[in-house]
Amino acid sequence: MGVMARFLITSALPYINGIKHLGNLVGSMLPADVHARYRRMQGHEVLFICATDEHGTPAELAAAEAGQSVRAYCDDQHEIQKAACAGFHLSFDHFGRTSHPLNHARTQHFAEALERAGLIEERVTAQVYSVDDGRFLPDRYVEGTCPVCGYEDARGDQCDNCGSLLDPVQLKNPRSKISGSTNIEIRDTAHLFLRQPLMEARVRDWVDASTQWPHLARSIAFKWLDEGLQDRSITRDLSWGIKVTQDGAPRPGFDSKVFYVWFDAPIGYIGATEEWAAATGQDWQRWWRTDQGADDVTYVQFMGKDNVAFHTVSFPVTLFGSGEPWKAVDRLKAFNWLTWYGGKFSTSGKRGIFMDQALELLPGDYWRWYLLANAPESSDAAFTLEGFQSAVNADLANVFGNFVNRITRFAATKMEGRVPGGGAPGPLEQALAARLADGIAALTAHHDAMDFRKAAAETRALWVAGNEYLQEAAPWSAIKTDPERAAVVVRTGLNLVTLFARLAAPFIPDTAQRVLDAMAVPAEGRGWPGADDASLLDTLPPGHAFEPPPVLFAKIEDTQVTAWAEQFGGGG
Ligand code: MF3
Ligand code: ZN
Repeated sequence: MGVMARFLITSALPYINGIKHLGNLVGSMLPADVHARYRRMQGHEVLFICATDEHGTPAELAAAEAGQSVRAYCDDQHEIQKAACAGFHLSFDHFGRTSHPLNHARTQHFAEALERAGLIEERVTAQVYSVDDGRFLPDRYVEGTCPVCGYEDARGDQCDNCGSLLDPVQLKNPRSKISGSTNIEIRDTAHLFLRQPLMEARVRDWVDASTQWPHLARSIAFKWLDEGLQDRSITRDLSWGIKVTQDGAPRPGFDSKVFYVWFDAPIGYIGATEEWAAATGQDWQRWWRTDQGADDVTYVQFMGKDNVAFHTVSFPVTLFGSGEPWKAVDRLKAFNWLTWYGGKFSTSGKRGIFMDQALELLPGDYWRWYLLANAPESSDAAFTLEGFQSAVNADLANVFGNFVNRITRFAATKMEGRVPGGGAPGPLEQALAARLADGIAALTAHHDAMDFRKAAAETRALWVAGNEYLQEAAPWSAIKTDPERAAVVVRTGLNLVTLFARLAAPFIPDTAQRVLDAMAVPAEGRGWPGADDASLLDTLPPGHAFEPPPVLFAKIEDTQVTAWAEQFGGGG
């Protein structure tokens, strides 16, 4: 075991409005979980935080659609998402909420600190007001005629016909997308602006020094910095959200306004850690304040590529601009899109599988394996039911499942359910040990680099090597002529079962646990194996009793694929 370190791991916070689809899952929460599990298995101290991102217009509108108050809607949806995350075995230390009072207080704290630092300016701007809706309309909720090309369905922020970027007050014949009303006025109203340009040099130096980021993240950050940071409005005319304060009291003129959701959401990483601390009696500051020990922390963030600029530029402006010693991200893993057969997942279009639906079909581990083995890392990747079927049947059922099944059942019947003693390893075992040492070193390097596809491929390659070993060593023949030899092979095979379960645990944690439980492996034998550990094939003591685990994975039948394609919109 190397030196113990501390890892703060966060996944981008899923929006509250609606259960997430499998593409959202593999774009942040799932790989973050794999990494958290891997680091815990190595013996490191890990804090893994996520939360629902609950503010903003979409949440308000979804609640109205559901006929609920926003708070009741968010309460319900939070529980639904939390349950789905549990079904996928996401091992958050805390799954919080950006609507939690602690996050409200933390967000107000940041805004006040930024104001003290001279980074906030209150400005009056003209905004589109819908008289019938009784509210200012967010950019995306105004439509009208494009002032440039005359297209009648231009959105407030952009015309989809000619591509012009628009200010919603420029639209001719504006109408509310919320109610359809054309009773629209342009009214002056005040908002807070974050003076990002003042922090540009500081952020640029920091990005420059962030050599642990992948190319994608650095290039997105530099693109934003090169275009020049703009003053950014951090308040909105909405009622659901975090109230704007000044010196701890309501800010005059801001009664009907709240902070913009993208201002408070990343602060939610801290807020959710504070929730965790309040619930467990732990200290949150040693994870977040560099003056309280957080300079020892490696902070790793996971997110989709559309989130990168917010995490590499906007949120750091908030953290650094506060003038306080906050921990900023060290390593960042960004994902491309998972598509549904090359197209978009869509609730309304009934295309694609959402987290709750997936769990009704099969257990979490099945999905975890395929999603991670095909993670959209260097480019977009397509989810197909056919690909899912073949990954489950070939990798999980045939390669891993069969291996475990074959050797444990053989040992249960021929060796009385105990690890046999006697005999000495021969050339086949030596070759296997060398293969394992190489493979574990490679797999460890892939996990360190957060290369999930490569890690899955190496995990599978080791399972294949185990099957080949068993095939060649053929204990079922040896037992007839050479019981000592059979004992060596069975002992080796049973040790491989536990080793494979440990190596696969970050990917398929529930299955790994079932195998290790059946093999009666004690807690201290479940950590991440070292490539240089000479006793890998000899950790279970002779005489150790075990049960063969039940069949681990059921194969997916063609008829199931056909039915699911029908239900969720397959390739055809
Ligand atoms: N809810 C956002 C999304 O799904 C992500 C928010 S991440 C955080 O795109 F930084 F705001 F926390
Ligand atoms: Zn236009």
